[in-house]
This record gives sequence, structure tokens and C-alpha cells, in this order.
Amino acid sequence: MEKDINNHVTELLDTLESSHSLSVVEYKELIEGYSPNNASIAADKAVKIRKTVYGNSVFIRGLIEVSNICRNDCLYCGIRKSNTHCDRYRLTPMQILDCCREGYLLGFRTFVLQGGEDSQFSAKNICELVDKIKSKYPDCAVTLSLGEYSKTEYLSMFNAGADRYLLRHETADKEHYEKLHPANMSFENRMQCLYNLKEIGFQTGCGFMVGSPYQTNETMAKDLKFIETFSPDMCGIGPFIPHKDTPFHDMPAGTLELTCFLLSIIRLIHPNVLLPATTALGTIHPKGRELGILAGANVVMPNLSPVNVRNKYLLYDNKICTGEESAQCIKCLKNRIESVGYEIVTDRGDIKK
Ligand code: 5AD
Ligand code: FES
Repeated sequence: MEKDINNHVTELLDTLESSHSLSVVEYKELIEGYSPNNASIAADKAVKIRKTVYGNSVFIRGLIEVSNICRNDCLYCGIRKSNTHCDRYRLTPMQILDCCREGYLLGFRTFVLQGGEDSQFSAKNICELVDKIKSKYPDCAVTLSLGEYSKTEYLSMFNAGADRYLLRHETADKEHYEKLHPANMSFENRMQCLYNLKEIGFQTGCGFMVGSPYQTNETMAKDLKFIETFSPDMCGIGPFIPHKDTPFHDMPAGTLELTCFLLSIIRLIHPNVLLPATTALGTIHPKGRELGILAGANVVMPNLSPVNVRNKYLLYDNKICTGEESAQCIKCLKNRIESVGYEIVTDRGDIKK
């Protein structure tokens, strides 16, 4: 019986490797068929296919956490509006430009501005900021990860020079979405934002948490089908990790094993996709990011935020890299990546089409 299941999973992985597509039912069977052995078969295929596109290169993105002020109340997130224990901050444009200057000297050619949905980050203010960064560092890519805006607002950011936008879809199942978010947040709007970003011309990233509360193999299978059909340029997946001051404080964290298996599957769906080994993955396991790379990831996003705000941008408990200076962080990460036979490159790291 077990042998039959394993044979079936191996066949599914072969199909995925050659045709980059499965049905929702097959994705579900693939996830259900997880075993360490199947995960290692998937990782071998993922690494092989990634090598043909990107060789041994791992891209770095300098992550600048611009504000932890957020109008939203996502039930999983440590910087949700209702968390009164969160010490709020917002970086000034000057502080953000200082981070870029430091990052540029350290070899970063992509800056990711990430933050809560903070009303002070109006489209107009974001455009001014992007314009300043792009004029100072024309050889750098700017990625925004600032949440939901209207299509007109996204277009203005694109016209101001922003290259990429990350907006995790969080889950491709409407009912599941509604268990993770308050009633005033809409699944349809989230998805519409992603289609708008893509249509405008951004390199667009979606993604989800592995092991989020109420997630099932069925919802994850839908996530994989969505990723297949939406065909994002980037895809951020990391384990859910509970935060003590949220309604989900008692919920179990996602696992390293399933996250790595899904990274391999996503690599097989889209051989060219930019796939980060996330900080959350590094948080649940001391070698999480290295193992993510060995499963098929090809991006890491060291923190460039000023050290005095790092312990305030806490989406989940026990986050790593909150005490280190940027220079220390990049050095540490470089060693880690090299220790598993890969190489960090100083490059914008655009998707190879
Ligand atoms: N654990 C893991 N990831 C989280 N995120 C938010 N809260 C958590 C948590 N508790 C993720 C979400 C969001 C991204 C910025 O961080 O997927 O889109
Ligand atoms: Fe930040 Fe290691 S990557 S300290």
C-alpha cells in the first residue's frame, strides 16, 4: 500500500518536472504523499532544474522594514492594529535612504521596502521615496511590499520607478482567507490587487504561510494551482510562527519539512521563479535558510533596517537577526550560503525569462 502511494508520488513528481502542471487533486495527493524520501526526490529535481536556469547563484535583497504601523488586523500578525504591546515606529525618508546607502556599499542591488499598511505611506509619499532611491541608485531595483492600494495608486508607484511588488495572497481559498482575516478584509480585493500589479507591469510576487491556522492539504493544493496559473515572478513562502500577542498565540507553527517540500514543488512548477529562503524558515530551524536553498530556493533577504527598530518589526515570536548590524548579517548569510555550495551575487537579480 505504502509502496503504491510512493510510486504514485514519484510519478506525480516526474509529471511536474516535465510538464510543470498538475490538477488540484494531484497537488493534494502530492502533499498528502509527503515523506522524507519523497521530499528528497523532489529536492534533487528542484536543484537540478534551478541549476540549469541560475547556476549556483543566490540573489540577495536588502530588506528595509519601513513602518510597523498597520491599519489591518490580520489574526496571525504581530503588528496587527489590535496589538497594544507593539512599540510602533515609522522610518523617515532620510533614514530609509541611509539604509540604502549602507546597503549599496555592502553590495545590495535590490532594496525591498516592507511595512504595515500605514496611512503615512500614501501613494504620493511612496512615489517621492521611490523616485529619490532610483535617482541615487539607478542600477538598483526597488521592490515594494506595502500592502493593498488601488490600481491607479499602484500605477503611480510603477511610473515613479518601482520595479517589483510583493503581496502574498496568503491563501487561495476564500473560506480559509476569512478565518485568517477580519471581516473588513476581502479575499477578492487581495486577488484583484495581484492581477492589477501584474497587468501594470510589476515583477509580481505572491505567497503564503505554511501551516497557517485552518490550512488543509486542500487549501494548499489550491495555493499551488494558483501559483501555477498566476505565474508570479517571485513567491514568498515560509512557516507560520505564532506571535504571543495575537489570537493565534496557541496555534502550532508550520514545519521546516513541509516548507522545504513545497519550495521544491514550486521550483518544479516554475523553474525560473525567484524563491526566497525566508527569515521565518531561519527562525524555526538554525539551518532553515540553508535547507531552503538546498530544496530549491534562490533568494535570501538579509535585514537592512536600522538596528534600533529591528526588535519592533516582529510579525512572529523569536525572529532571528534582530540584534545584528547589517554588515554582520550579510557576512553571516554569505558564509551560510557558501557552506552549502552556493554563491551570493551582487546583481539586481531579475527573473530570467
Ligand atoms: N508567521 C509567519 N509569517 C507571518 N507573516 C505575518 N505574520 C506571520 C506569522 N505569524 C507573513 C505574512 C505576510 C508577510 C509579510 O509575513 O504572510 O504577508
Ligand atoms: Fe542575520 Fe545571520 S543572517 S545574523
